[in-house]
Amino acid sequence: QSIVILISGRGSNMQALLAAELPVAAVISNNPQAAGLAFAHAQGIPTHALNHRDFSDRETFDRALMEIIDTYQPALVVLAGFMRILSEPFVSHYQGQLLNIHPSLLPAFPGLNTHEQALQEGVKIHGCTVHLVTSQLDRGPIIIQAAVPVLANDTPETLAARVLAQEHRIYPQAIKWVLQDKLNLTAQPAATIASCN
Ligand code: GRF
Repeated sequence: QSIVILISGRGSNMQALLAAELPVAAVISNNPQAAGLAFAHAQGIPTHALNHRDFSDRETFDRALMEIIDTYQPALVVLAGFMRILSEPFVSHYQGQLLNIHPSLLPAFPGLNTHEQALQEGVKIHGCTVHLVTSQLDRGPIIIQAAVPVLANDTPETLAARVLAQEHRIYPQAIKWVLQDKLNLTAQPAATIASCN
């Protein structure tokens, strides 16, 4: 049982997963310059750079990505700051095995610039969410969330740092639950609900 991590940049969530001693088989980045890729390589983890700019369209890139991932036969594919939207064939290929972390309390603030959005709306509580990926962006069954207070003098940067500390805590937790087969999915009229036993 192993996981493959997809990143695009800094890779602090990836570092948290490595620090939690999760069985990381490989780290793949669409950005060859991603700092996280160099870090993983230095740790002796197999790494791959697959530059999306070398591909004519999203589906061709996604197919090449799937080919690399599938050589590892991972139990889970973990998005950790992976800044590419994944096509429907990719998402259905890894149905139930694809996790993402998003820096807001979903369903609030999907998409980008979540901390700016939270400050603009004046919410008093913000946070992060680990969820299963479906073909709807930033939707999919929620596995775990962590909340932080929004303080009067917060900037997007101070708020992001408070949320990030929680990301590093809940992402390893969520992955452990899934690898230990503790995740239950229940079909509800409006959505599929995830819970952990
Ligand atoms: C994190 O805030 C994550 O929630 C979001 O992108 C950021 C990635 O940071 N999807 P890092 O590369 O893990 O440091």
